[in-house]
Amino acid sequence: RQRFRVHDFARAKAEARPLTMLTAYDGLTAKIFDDAGIDLLLVGDSIADNLLGYDNTIPVTLDEMIVAARSVARATRYAMVVADLPFGSYEASPRDAFVSASRMLKESGAQAVKIEGGERIAEHVRLLTQSGIPVVGHLGLTPQSEHMLGGKRVQARDDAAAEQLANDALVLQEAGACAVVLEMVPAHVAARVTEILAVPTIGIGAGTEVNGQVLVWTDMAGMTSWSPRFAKQFGQVGQALTDATTAYIHEVRSGQFPAPEHTFER
Ligand code: KIV
Ligand code: NA
Repeated sequence: RQRFRVHDFARAKAEARPLTMLTAYDGLTAKIFDDAGIDLLLVGDSIADNLLGYDNTIPVTLDEMIVAARSVARATRYAMVVADLPFGSYEASPRDAFVSASRMLKESGAQAVKIEGGERIAEHVRLLTQSGIPVVGHLGLTPQSEHMLGGKRVQARDDAAAEQLANDALVLQEAGACAVVLEMVPAHVAARVTEILAVPTIGIGAGTEVNGQVLVWTDMAGMTSWSPRFAKQFGQVGQALTDATTAYIHEVRSGQFPAPEHTFER
């Protein structure tokens, strides 16, 4: 098995082979997903609200993202590691985007970055890709703008907004993006964007007519009791961890653990 490389995006779309992507925030879980055969690992800024205890993705810093991405990149052999640039680290100028993205690649070993937005960051995407940094776009619900969007709601519901989304996707592609994540958009809108783009779309809450799917791993694995409607729990890892912890506590308190086989006699 070879590492997923930038040309594999186009190849997967041409061969109609759905792309699989999961978030990963540390090497321990990244290695599990990588060994299982995932195409792409996203060091998402969703680490903020899923692991670091923040209310949303806004507070996470580039330094925090670099630590997480380094852990994931060092544990991953086959998947392409895509790292989110966090809020505040790229929007103001293409130069900001380059400084942050180059830090991310140099200090973490990630192979690509993802940034949110369409036309307004086209020149940022162009500078990054021309400088040798693969960029994944992200349209639809862009959580870094959640205060402007008025919460986590389905986007591009009316014709004008759908047209704007399609235009943004084309602009990102023209600027050099190698794929575009579509988050929380009606299925028919995602299908149309997928049809007009040469590069693949990767959906989350975007239906089936896209070129791949991405999920937050804690949602996918059932780590928490709540997960969004667009996510499916493919396991009950949270419950398994609860059961293991309960058993450990019980066996320590009852004197069953450690047993002789866990004990050094000399
Ligand atoms: O940070 C993240 O988890 C993401 C995905 C939801 C696409 O950006
Ligand atoms: Na993100």
